[in-house]
Amino acid sequence: MKKITIKNILKQKGKRPIVCLTAYSEVVAQILDKHCDIILVGDSVGMVLYGMKTTKDVKLETMINHARAVKNSVKKSLVVFDMPYNTYPDKFTAYKNAKKVIKNTKCDAIKLEGGKKIANIIHHLTKKGIQVMGHVGLLPQHSSNFKLKGKSFLEKKKILEDSIALSNSGVFAIVIECVVENLAKMITKKILVPTIGIGASRYCDGQILVTDDMIGLSNFHPKFVKKYSDVRKIIEKSVKKYSYEVKKRKFPRINNIYKN
Ligand code: KIV
Repeated sequence: MKKITIKNILKQKGKRPIVCLTAYSEVVAQILDKHCDIILVGDSVGMVLYGMKTTKDVKLETMINHARAVKNSVKKSLVVFDMPYNTYPDKFTAYKNAKKVIKNTKCDAIKLEGGKKIANIIHHLTKKGIQVMGHVGLLPQHSSNFKLKGKSFLEKKKILEDSIALSNSGVFAIVIECVVENLAKMITKKILVPTIGIGASRYCDGQILVTDDMIGLSNFHPKFVKKYSDVRKIIEKSVKKYSYEVKKRKFPRINNIYKN
């Protein structure tokens, strides 16, 4: 399998949509690798795996551990590391933490949330050779509510300006989260790098979802998530059967035991 590069991703703008999903573990990453262009080790791990109320409490070390597990099994996809809250408050801290992340995980790029306000930080990182993905629209690290963005003229203008600032600061792609369709379409037309939508319409250059949501493992189902399977139900059914068989001494069977 040929490794996907940043150049490949840039070239895909306006062509075949870019396929992205999240992974936090080696086994899930291995499954995704065949079918995805980009695998994001998202800070959504805090809410999905650790039951946190927001992503704000996710620690850099936790993310590094998950990213190492993911990177271990990925051969083809580009692996992006989501920098957690407060790990990039200024350009020097951002660079110090980004260097640590890349050194310890060998991820291909990092992702930062925010617009104009962090454009100077992104510019500093990209100048130093760190590949950065942007993230605009709904920003889970800064939002107390998970509401649709870009409904008003002013909000639209701000998010468009944020996207242009990020594009000019050297990002190779921008995640657009939970915005109205015409704004996503406008941003995608206006900027040179690919846009990756999550709740941002089919007009984006690619799509991303949280894997646990789209396979029906998490209990999170906003309108923009399509549930492709119901893994919760599959687990429940297996556990119920296992519990029954253990209690009835039907498990383990002859082929599950060792004899000398
Ligand atoms: O943390 C995450 O999983 C993300 C995606 C929702 C884009 O940022």
